[in-house]
Amino acid sequence: TGGMGYIGSHTSVALIEAGYQVVVLDNLDNSSEKVLTGIESITGQTPHFAHTDLRDVDAVLEVFNEYPITSVIHTAGLKSVEESVTNPSKYYENNIGSTITLVKAMQTAGVSTLVFSSSATVYSSSSKPPFDENAKTFPTNPYGMSKYIIEQIMADLALADSKWRLGILRYFNPVGAHPSGKIGESPSGVPNNLMPYLMQVAIGKLEKLPIYGDDYETPDGTCIRDYVHVVDLARGHLAALEFLENKNGVHFWNLGTGKGTSVLELVKEVEKVIEKPIPIEMKQRRKGDIPIVFADVAKASSQLSWQAKYSIEKMCADHWKWQKHYSDSRQ
Ligand code: WQD
Repeated sequence: TGGMGYIGSHTSVALIEAGYQVVVLDNLDNSSEKVLTGIESITGQTPHFAHTDLRDVDAVLEVFNEYPITSVIHTAGLKSVEESVTNPSKYYENNIGSTITLVKAMQTAGVSTLVFSSSATVYSSSSKPPFDENAKTFPTNPYGMSKYIIEQIMADLALADSKWRLGILRYFNPVGAHPSGKIGESPSGVPNNLMPYLMQVAIGKLEKLPIYGDDYETPDGTCIRDYVHVVDLARGHLAALEFLENKNGVHFWNLGTGKGTSVLELVKEVEKVIEKPIPIEMKQRRKGDIPIVFADVAKASSQLSWQAKYSIEKMCADHWKWQKHYSDSRQ
């Protein structure tokens, strides 16, 4: 689900390249069918596409009846922290409602393997980084809370019926794009997240980068995050799927690099790639930001034999290649 989105499209590419038959279910709420062309141009194959809203249980059941689905990777969902604060009911209804419909359809269809796209935003700000999977969870916004509630639903499913094979992936900060430059993140409107905003300043679409606070307890005063290449993240979904082939129950894994990068450090990396300065403007701290967030990735490494391979430089170079290709294709 959500296979036309940022994470979903890169995961679809990785699945196809690993020999899986992929059926993408997406309502195109935050993406377009152009992504199918991108997936096809990279892999030489076009995934089956069901233009379906997950909350339409009959339509979802139709997909299960039409295709011999063996497992589900569920990345569909609304993901703006900012929007979730102003419109919480939309987030709870969409993210939780569509997951419950999906799970009911899976139960009807007898499919019990599910990999779910969760987020490091479920961790409590009182936890000390690096966060491992047992760190205290306490989401501070409706987007994060919707992810947390879905995690709880999955844990209860596994308790109720041992047939469930559930993998919950807590993404840190996904950035970058497929090295071909043919798929990537295309945020609608002014981006909330750092990297897409930074890239739109780099391409000249936005004038300067607001930096929300340079008075944090960090070496350069700006917040630190664990940026992870979206292609590494996609590989993590395959590793989780393979792990679940013979493991029941519910399993949690952080997907990150285990390294922290500050806002100013990321700006410098992008300036190196684009070979020109990024105009910045220091602003007040942004409500809800945690000073330092980065992952303890030992569990994914030992259980999934998964590690992030790509560097910050590669993330910036691939994201920039996509930004130029994406902007050209919309001229
Ligand atoms: C990173 C840092 C900002 C924009 C959230 C969600 C997470 C995932 C990624 C969905 C912070 C600073 C940002 C800007 C800035 N979302 N910043 N100027 O908040 O770590 O994580 O987005 O999958 O689930 O929680 O990411 O990129 O918004 O912010 O200075 O224009 O960059 O203050 O310190 P965040 P972010």
